[in-house]
Amino acid sequence: MFQDKGWILVTLITLVTPSWAAYKLQERYSWNQLDFAFPNTRLKDQALASGDYIPQNALPVGVEHFGNRLFVTVPRWRDGIPATLTYINMDRSLTGSPELIPYPDWRSNTAGDCANSITTAYRIKVDECGRLWVLDTGTVGIGNTTTNPCPYAVNVFDLTTDTRIRRYELPGVDTNPNTFIANIAVDIGKNCDDAYAYFADELGYGLIAYSWELNKSWRFSAHSYFFPDPLRGDFNVAGINFQWGEEGIFGMSLSPIRSDGYRTLYFSPLASHRQFAVSTRILRDETRTEDSYHDFVALDERGPNSHTTSRVMSDDGIELFNLIDQNAKPQTSWASSPPPPSRTYLHANSGNVVSSISVSTNSVGPAGVEVPKAYIFNQHNGINYETSGPHLFPTHQPAQPGVQDG
Ligand SMILES: *[C@@H]1O[C@H](CO)[C@@H](O)[C@H](O)[C@H]1NC(C)=O
Ligand SMILES: *[C@@H]1O[C@H](CO)[C@@H](O)[C@H](O)[C@H]1NC(C)=O
Repeated sequence: MFQDKGWILVTLITLVTPSWAAYKLQERYSWNQLDFAFPNTRLKDQALASGDYIPQNALPVGVEHFGNRLFVTVPRWRDGIPATLTYINMDRSLTGSPELIPYPDWRSNTAGDCANSITTAYRIKVDECGRLWVLDTGTVGIGNTTTNPCPYAVNVFDLTTDTRIRRYELPGVDTNPNTFIANIAVDIGKNCDDAYAYFADELGYGLIAYSWELNKSWRFSAHSYFFPDPLRGDFNVAGINFQWGEEGIFGMSLSPIRSDGYRTLYFSPLASHRQFAVSTRILRDETRTEDSYHDFVALDERGPNSHTTSRVMSDDGIELFNLIDQNAKPQTSWASSPPPPSRTYLHANSGNVVSSISVSTNSVGPAGVEVPKAYIFNQHNGINYETSGPHLFPTHQPAQPGVQDG
């Protein structure tokens, strides 16, 4: 059904080239301000009047698709975010600025209702077993405004019945006072019960593994590869210079299953130009948390101006990632030859930043959220949000196929 609507399914997945390739995201939805599907206009007007809905405060960061639904997350960074986990019905809204529909319903999006709701969701994952994995950070606010009304909790939804089938709170030993987790990866093994999720602790510097079967988690702490590179904390995005020196692991991607039966998890600190790797054989084994230093591998640096945020790998082993610095300089080419796997990067429109990337397991193709740079920096560095709103780019087209090798 997606093909009929201009989705490009195959191009990206078959682009196995030994060199870097660039893809430009193609716009499908965009908003000046995000709109939510309130049950009726009276409730919407009430929410606007009371400040429960402040449209200019809502920014999408996560995107994932399943069937005719495109899931979108909106963190509660500021007041007035009525729902954090939402979706667009893509059959009903082919393009335009559709209302975001709370998932699975309004009640489950109540901030601070820890046991029954999601307070804040960042990146989310659909697995090949029809489940949606959502880490509730339990937080409201961002940076020094953050409060934690709820603990970090793994929530898993069955997308066939639209019901939550698992909630697991991360125990205190798996986090620390600096913990901030914005990215997750989901690893399906032999069958749907053989499932693990991995959580990148960006500011607490750790990697947390959760076993679906055991309903248990454990933490890999303080490997030096989880830390930012002190030489890579200076960012230049779209002509704006700023420092994010404290940023640890951000993006993660999982390879297809290798001959030994395990995947490889690739990860990068945000303040870094380097990618690291570890086998899920290690991550899945709770006894290896203290005894696995040499099982983590450092890959080559990507080259200059190569900070990345979200990433994902296709079933064919092609890694998709964004280069936030290079959106400002689309002509920059790579100085070093690429390490495996084959990699492809996604360009945002000039001056914007790709915030999230998603490839669905049913190979519908990649999706991205592109946000205006001014908004990103507003959240972190106090620069004002300009007029253009966020854009959703759940499909793509090649921009400069086969270029950018060294
Ligand atoms: C919080 O951070 C912002 C800048 O990010 C700063 O302007 C403000 O003073 C800080 N507030 C506190 C209470 O530290
Ligand atoms: C998983 O663990 C949580 C503890 O956070 C518990 O509340 C829940 O009932 C457990 N679920 C299953 C299926 O064992």
